[in-house]
Amino acid sequence: MIFVEDLALTYEQQNNNIYDNGVKALANVNLKARRGERVSIIGPSGCGKSSLLFILAGLIRPSSGNVLIDSCEPDSRRTDTALILQDYGLFPWKTVVENASLGLEIRGLGKREQSDIVIPILEKLGLSEFSTAYPAQLSGGQRQRVAIARSLAFKPSLLLMDEPLSSLDALTRETLQQFILEIWREHNLTLVLVTHSIEEAVFLGSTIAVMSERPGTIIETIVNPLAGTPGYRQRPEFHKVCSRLRSLLGVGN
Ligand SMILES: Nc1ncnc2c1ncn2[C@@H]1O[C@H](COP(=O)(O)OP(=O)(O)O)[C@@H](O)[C@H]1O
Ligand SMILES: [Mg+2]
Repeated sequence: MIFVEDLALTYEQQNNNIYDNGVKALANVNLKARRGERVSIIGPSGCGKSSLLFILAGLIRPSSGNVLIDSCEPDSRRTDTALILQDYGLFPWKTVVENASLGLEIRGLGKREQSDIVIPILEKLGLSEFSTAYPAQLSGGQRQRVAIARSLAFKPSLLLMDEPLSSLDALTRETLQQFILEIWREHNLTLVLVTHSIEEAVFLGSTIAVMSERPGTIIETIVNPLAGTPGYRQRPEFHKVCSRLRSLLGVGN
């Protein structure tokens, strides 16, 4: 489903200045994922994780290398790839149902068609009673679920999430991690999740791609078959993979 080969990305120079050669964000990135896989991407801040997701979503073009999603070049107009941004991207002046319908509205669906699609999703995500609330009236976890509802409205097959849980408290975070697993299962998704949380990467990713400092490259791909199984957090294997990540990322044990 995802095929990335020798990918490099340099942001072109920002100033008309001979000393500015641009920012080398990614170099030599290789990544493959099968349909239905859950890939966690973890790496230091500024190593190019968001840039990589934007490339997969077709929002920016790599400077070199090959990228294929389902054998096609990424294209931001494809509705089967959904990207959830770090700050949820909700409009404060729109209600929950309006925010969740936004993509459908942009694509010209009528109000009735929009609600036929969105209402059942909101129900599923436990947001029915908040459908006329505004984002400011919701908790962080609820806002994140609205953002998820919005992307599910297109029935995507590939869901890209950029640090979706990083601004949530620990309890909400664990609940939503479980929730992401349920969504993945029910919607037959391929999932790519960027995170800077070691525990989150290990709990969710059946594959964990570890990135280096900028220019970011994938220094190791860890196979993590027990991810998502009940009680995984309590198992010794979980802690072993966490320690492995800590040493790869050069953080204390
Ligand atoms: N539009 C841009 N123009 C120039 N440099 C950028 C742009 N976007 C990101 N960068 C730089 O590219 C590097 C990687 O950024 P990013 O992909 O956001 O990293 P991460 O998500 O891992 O924190 C950073 O050094 C950042 O400053
Ligand atoms: Mg980022």
